[in-house]
Amino acid sequence: MYLKKISLIVCLSCISFCSYAQRIAIIGAMLEEIRLLTEALKKKHIIKYKDLTFYTGYLKGQSVVIMKSGIGKVNAAYSTTILLEKFKIKSVLFTGVAGGLHPNSYPGDLIVAEAVFHHDYARDMANEYEVRATRNINGQNDNPLLFKTDSVLLNLAKSCVRKISFLAVGSRNPKVFTGIIATGDTFVNNPIKANWLYENFQALAVEMEGASLGQICYQRNIPFLIIRSCSDNANNSAHLDFQTFLKPAAENAIKVILGILEEL
Ligand code: ADE
Repeated sequence: MYLKKISLIVCLSCISFCSYAQRIAIIGAMLEEIRLLTEALKKKHIIKYKDLTFYTGYLKGQSVVIMKSGIGKVNAAYSTTILLEKFKIKSVLFTGVAGGLHPNSYPGDLIVAEAVFHHDYARDMANEYEVRATRNINGQNDNPLLFKTDSVLLNLAKSCVRKISFLAVGSRNPKVFTGIIATGDTFVNNPIKANWLYENFQALAVEMEGASLGQICYQRNIPFLIIRSCSDNANNSAHLDFQTFLKPAAENAIKVILGILEEL
């Protein structure tokens, strides 16, 4: 009886230690965007919870939990919220691909996000479309329009990219841009919209999840960073380029994530 009690206590403290030891969360929208990371995990455990799968273990000596968020803003907000409920998370890194908006960006190039915003949270009027700041659930406080990424993680990313040799996807070695990323529930396959995002917000890339997890992390005070690599240029051929460049672009973004983990 006494022995049983002791082993129960040991067991319970193990469980609570496992779920409360601080981890770095790494999120990607699609399996293609996290596969190399889940394959490289040391001491890998797979935890299934509701409709989500979490991969825990170690990367570059750091305790991490990796998750596929699913595509789009609702999936990203939902899965990030559950992840933050279930695990003790010290920071969140998002990795994946995006549509490049800078006139000199090409597939394979990288965007390290300084800030991220919802381009489709807006007041839509007859002659004007006004992007607005979101509000948190308690209502009175406006969130900022731009959710800023964590300065420590951002500086780490900026310094580690200099040491990385990226996959040359197009005709030249990838460039690294640092700046704003636009998020919305649309795959942008439209040069007019792409140019509007670049001209009006200086957005360097467009994707479908970043601002959702940025908003959740902002509201919960969790440091976060978003790394994207261009799979396309959000123009008329974006849907075709996306298929062609998804894999190498996803790998370039992952190289930055691993670089950050190594420096932490
Ligand atoms: N993710 C990758 N390419 C994208 C695009 N063109 N629009 C939105 N999300 C993307």
